[in-house]
Amino acid sequence: MGKEKVGLVALVMIVSSWLVSPSSSSSFRGDLTRGKAPLTFGSPSSSSSSLVLNRVGSSVVFPLDGDVFPTGSYNTTIYIGQPPKPYFLDPDTGSDLTWLQCDAPCVRCTETPHPLYRPSNDRVICRDPICASLHSGDYKCDDPERCDYKVMYADGGSSSGVLVKDVFSFKSYGGGDLSPRVALGCGYDQEQKPGASIPFLDGVLGLGKGKSGIVSQLSSQGLVRNVLGHCLSTHGGGYLFFGNDLYDSSRIMWTPMSHDYLKHYSPGTADLLFAGKPTGQKDLLLVLDSGSSYTYFSSQAYEALSSAVKKALDRKPFAEALDDPTLPLCWRGRKPFKNIREVRKYFKPFALSFNSGGRTKNQFEVPPESYLIISAMGNVCMGVLNGTQAGLQNMNLIGDISMQDKLVIYDNERQLVGWQNSVDCSRPPKSRTFAA
Ligand SMILES: *[C@@H]1O[C@H](CO)[C@@H](O)[C@H](O)[C@H]1NC(C)=O
Ligand SMILES: *[C@@H]1O[C@H](CO)[C@@H](O)[C@H](O)[C@H]1NC(C)=O
Repeated sequence: MGKEKVGLVALVMIVSSWLVSPSSSSSFRGDLTRGKAPLTFGSPSSSSSSLVLNRVGSSVVFPLDGDVFPTGSYNTTIYIGQPPKPYFLDPDTGSDLTWLQCDAPCVRCTETPHPLYRPSNDRVICRDPICASLHSGDYKCDDPERCDYKVMYADGGSSSGVLVKDVFSFKSYGGGDLSPRVALGCGYDQEQKPGASIPFLDGVLGLGKGKSGIVSQLSSQGLVRNVLGHCLSTHGGGYLFFGNDLYDSSRIMWTPMSHDYLKHYSPGTADLLFAGKPTGQKDLLLVLDSGSSYTYFSSQAYEALSSAVKKALDRKPFAEALDDPTLPLCWRGRKPFKNIREVRKYFKPFALSFNSGGRTKNQFEVPPESYLIISAMGNVCMGVLNGTQAGLQNMNLIGDISMQDKLVIYDNERQLVGWQNSVDCSRPPKSRTFAA
């Protein structure tokens, strides 16, 4: 356990071909500042394709395993290949590309729960739009018959490899089987920042909005709507789904997707409230990232939140636990805690208040159990971290911890993100889809 963060993935920073050799930090900055570029929506064919989609309208549900702490990630089992083999993947709404640790052969792989993926012979060629979507600007491939990729994540890790297509096997919510061919990365070189804790997984499930995102790929084949959502339980586990028929839209607080970040799901700007009162932190631009275990605020917002939490603990039986290395800010009580429920009454909720369209204020509520963890030493630690320190600059990133017990939906067709507060995520929409 490092003092920093846990989790394989935060955000994709760049994807480049081998010809460009990116230095991580400068590419990271370059990529984020390009976020202001105009986006174009609604391809000329969108009306006809939505007619097709209206008829199909299937959804896919995936049970999730794992938790924020101590595991540090969630994972879902995806069946890939012919015959289909299971892989445990980290669902990441902060990046597009799905990749598996791959025997191509592997140059650098971390330990995996399953045998390394053996790539299919069906390579994605350089000219393929999916290859183009992973590269910026005028890219060149050294071999027109293949598409090399490199994805770099905000936590300093990366995966390099080659794109192939293979068969993914899903059971749709309606009961039918789907076996689409999907482009994925055969990752034969994974780098990790020294000291980062590496989840014991086979790869990443890329849920971002880019063309290579798995939901975009399935939707362009007319199999599901380009909508996904997740529900992470504070008890661990939860579920992920693709498609739009597993929730009641009228119960969701919808907010337009902001285009300030080209590649990330952003609900736009919000004001930070603590215990229902303004903190003075306004217009924080937020990003939703299921690949990040913790929430990261830019330095000023982090400062405002941590001092509000500390102030509310005044004259309560807590002392800062400087000897606890779990996270930067931990407190010990009179005796060690076992469960977050024992401390809930001492901590107040915070909220992000979105000003959507001027009329209503959509609040993203964060109760104590969605920003605190209990460490192995029995202390309470704050799971909102200083993003500026983590190299995220002014980005405010809502990670798994704060999305727990919420239904969070990313609707790429209507360009909306939405959530429902206080949901029991341990109960999937309909349990029959969960039969093994
Ligand atoms: C991933 O999920 C599997 C089964 O669903 C579980 O056995 C495994 O412990 C999980 N791994 C992690 C790192 O969460
Ligand atoms: C957050 O991190 C930045 C960069 O390391 C640092 O300058 C700043 O003081 C930190 N803020 C707080 C409140 O700790």
